[in-house]
Amino acid sequence: MKLRKFKDPLPIPPVLIPKWKSGDYDYTYYEVSMVETKQSLHSDLPQTTLWGYEGIYPGPTFEVEMGERVFVKWKNELPARHLLPIDHTVHGAEKEKPDVRTVVHLHGGRTEPASDGYPDAWFTNGFAVKGPFFEKEIFEYGNQQKARALWYHDHAIGLTRLNIYAGLAGFYLIRDSHERSLNLPSGPFEVPLLLQDRTFHDDGTLSYPDQPENNSSGLHPSIITSFFGDTILVNGKVWPFFEVEPRKYRFRFLNAANARFFRLSLDSGQLFFQIGTDSGFLERPIGISSLLLAPAERLDIIIDFSNMEGKSVILKNDARTHFPIGDPVNPETTGNVMEFRVTKPLSGIDTSMIPAYLGPIKWLQENSARKQRYLELSEEKDQFGRSLFLLDKKMWDDPITENPRLGSIEIWNFVNTNGDDHPIHIHLVQFQVLGRRAFDVDFYKKTKQIRYMGPRIQPEMGERGWKDTVRCPPGHITTVIIPFFPFTGQYVWHCHMLEHEDYEMMRPYKVLPPD
Ligand code: C2O
Ligand code: CU
Repeated sequence: MKLRKFKDPLPIPPVLIPKWKSGDYDYTYYEVSMVETKQSLHSDLPQTTLWGYEGIYPGPTFEVEMGERVFVKWKNELPARHLLPIDHTVHGAEKEKPDVRTVVHLHGGRTEPASDGYPDAWFTNGFAVKGPFFEKEIFEYGNQQKARALWYHDHAIGLTRLNIYAGLAGFYLIRDSHERSLNLPSGPFEVPLLLQDRTFHDDGTLSYPDQPENNSSGLHPSIITSFFGDTILVNGKVWPFFEVEPRKYRFRFLNAANARFFRLSLDSGQLFFQIGTDSGFLERPIGISSLLLAPAERLDIIIDFSNMEGKSVILKNDARTHFPIGDPVNPETTGNVMEFRVTKPLSGIDTSMIPAYLGPIKWLQENSARKQRYLELSEEKDQFGRSLFLLDKKMWDDPITENPRLGSIEIWNFVNTNGDDHPIHIHLVQFQVLGRRAFDVDFYKKTKQIRYMGPRIQPEMGERGWKDTVRCPPGHITTVIIPFFPFTGQYVWHCHMLEHEDYEMMRPYKVLPPD
């Protein structure tokens, strides 16, 4: 089915209302129900059955203040049948497990282990059945983090790709006084943009393959290597338009796709001003003509529409599927994201700023690291001949090998010996990217020795801040420096391409008490 582009207005998810809030923002209680719902994702498409937090897709946006203690009771009120095909050969999704299991992770949050959404801490409707790691019904988020855009999404073992595809994702914005002092575009001029790709059947239902294209495994359903949809959605609408005033806007970009990378540009040729990363502000804004965004990465962006009355600007995408060596995008379809129309009259003088300086970042020194780890990202074959991506050649069930001490700093080197760019995410922590260095992959595969092919390349300008997800391109060693605090306990690190994460490209890790 061919859906017309730029036909429907951009929806903006509502801000979630707490059930209870104490004075001075120090204690807030929310309840959020996951329910099956129907929603129109394009005006030419019949309504789509989805799963939504509070019955909406994407979920409502949390707005919280730094330091505010937030409690959330995440309630599974979903039906017993999954919307999408489950592969029972995937670890954690065995036949005897309930089909519909959920657990929520606050991505980028510095969260205690019991509230982090460990993949085995899942629960079913009404908490009737609980996973082996289930600890509590009400999660606590301390929000001891400066202003930034986090997001929440499902993380149930063996089902994450399907639960997020069904609609379980939303924004979580932390605010602070420093952010308010910067006089950035705000209120109606600050807009979250959640980017995903989806494929639909003609009846409007979600389409997700139940087996890979050339399924040699004979399994059915069988997990696929990575999902790429043929339409692009922003905030749950296919190719929307957004009417803007001729002024500056702040956009909080989030790539919430299963596996698709986005490389965004504006067809007007104008620059984006990037002010922040996954985990807060850059030191200084940068003007940049294209934005690369891997699954789970966020970008804090200002676009200036002043003096553009009457014009329209298309947000384009030219990241190959898969990235970086797959097919080019279709210029008619997936090469487009949304359209900005500068058609609204100016409602008042634009006094917002793109500040020249956004604040200091404490840069970590390499010699402060107590340990270096080299962790291979490899591609293997499973017993059915399917691709299997592993971290350090280990499976999810293998004993824990990454066990940093609380308060210590470590350097992790991701040694990518396969052809995909993998966005690696580590729970609990934020890190800094030290750089990337090309190495001889064949020599490494034969000898396990690293032979560098060039000097270390500095992180891109837009990556020079705190991050929680890092792109690891093929043929390169990507190096990050990570302080481990403020909790001990068991977390996970993984590739954020959801089909990889669900199929063994995820490992538990444990922060040990200081010695
Ligand atoms: Cu965005 Cu482990 O997750
Ligand atoms: Cu991956």
